[in-house]
Amino acid sequence: MRRRTFLVAPFTIGTGALLGHLAACGASPASAPPPSTSGDEELTETSEPTMASTTRTLVAYFSRAGENYYYGGRTTLEVGNTEIVADLIAGAVDVDVYRIEAADPYPESYDETVERNVQEQTDEARPAIAGNLPDVTDYDTVLLGSGIWNVQPPMIMRTFVESVDLSGKTIFPFVTYAVSGLGRTIDDYTGLCPQSTIGEGLAIRGEEAQDAKAEVETWLQAIGLLPT
Ligand SMILES: Cc1cc2nc3c(=O)[nH]c(=O)nc-3n(C[C@H](O)[C@H](O)[C@H](O)COP(=O)(O)O)c2cc1C
Repeated sequence: MRRRTFLVAPFTIGTGALLGHLAACGASPASAPPPSTSGDEELTETSEPTMASTTRTLVAYFSRAGENYYYGGRTTLEVGNTEIVADLIAGAVDVDVYRIEAADPYPESYDETVERNVQEQTDEARPAIAGNLPDVTDYDTVLLGSGIWNVQPPMIMRTFVESVDLSGKTIFPFVTYAVSGLGRTIDDYTGLCPQSTIGEGLAIRGEEAQDAKAEVETWLQAIGLLPT
């Protein structure tokens, strides 16, 4: 098994303090304090070394378990589809993982979540993120993952990219979806993060997330994070 670090209570930046200063993700949250060194915040599993690389890569994802779309019907997901893909990534390469969680969790009901999302899109809302944000200073690559909600990443992904400084970094989006593929993902992040490089995205059909290991690894190879 490869090394994998989970940012359990990620480092330092209080979300509430930042939400008053939202800006495009190139704008630096200059007041961010240095990372905590208490050691309580992260859980590290160390094993065999991965490919020789000085790259530090962060996987930041949002995923919602609960009632969801499933081949035209509904199912109840114990684990969200995007979380499954994030786990596949973390099992294949040396990354830190940050899970984006809503301060006001989304409903268990699919229809209520659809309704709330439409309202958030209409309002250009920035749903608050629970807990602390990661200190992204030392990462040069960020893999941004989410489902596709109404043909684009959920609005909470906007909250995230506007709350951390991703300028100068390369963002590789990955999504799970029902029918829309990447939808407007690339355009969204390109517009939101003008000082970042938006690289090749990965779109996995949600129902097939469990079986996507090969597809995920092919993508990781294509973007240079896994040897061919
Ligand atoms: C509120 C909501 C809106 C959705 N809108 C779309 C959509 O427009 N296009 C699509 O392909 N899938 C859509 N889906 C399906 C999800 O993108 C898909 O189930 C995804 O795998 C969910 O990821 P998650 O389980 O990690 O949250 C939607 C799901 C929800 C809950």
